[in-house]
Amino acid sequence: MRETTTTSAAETEAIGVGLGERLRTGDVVLLTGELGAGKTTFVRGMARGAGSVAPVASPTFQLVRVYPGRLQLAHVDLYRVEHNTELGDLGLEELADQGAVVIEWGDRLQVPGSALIEIEHLGGDRRLVRTKRDLSH
Ligand SMILES: Nc1ncnc2c1ncn2[C@@H]1O[C@H](COP(=O)(O)OP(=O)(O)OP(=O)(O)O)[C@@H](O)[C@H]1O
Ligand SMILES: [Mg+2]
Repeated sequence: MRETTTTSAAETEAIGVGLGERLRTGDVVLLTGELGAGKTTFVRGMARGAGSVAPVASPTFQLVRVYPGRLQLAHVDLYRVEHNTELGDLGLEELADQGAVVIEWGDRLQVPGSALIEIEHLGGDRRLVRTKRDLSH
């Protein structure tokens, strides 16, 4: 389990870049952490690492935003999804066929082989970014 304390959004984003660079088609990354912890900030880095220049924002009105790049990254936010939903019901299996998938509030799902990253708000601009389960490759 890897842990890093960051002291700025840019630092959290940089950790996301590192993960984004390692992504392969079929990878699923689950993100957990309270409101404002920095999940979307982390995804911004992941998209950059995956080679996308698209603007990254929380998929508030759409459930999924797709960022084309070296590898397509699909960005899902389950915050407003009321019931625990199967990956298949969300159409995510298809997205995972097309590239990698990252899911905010993803600890609500059980996805075999997925990575799990927790971002903990430590107060002010400090965050603890913890890899609880890494990519399987
Ligand atoms: N060390 C840090 N890491 C990440 N974000 C930070 C840090 N310090 C300050 N911030 C700020 O905290 C906010 C994090 O917001 P962000 O949207 O990434 O969180 P979130 O976890 O996606 O929230 P939500 O649960 O609403 O989706 C941003 O405004 C960011 O600039
Ligand atoms: Mg968010």
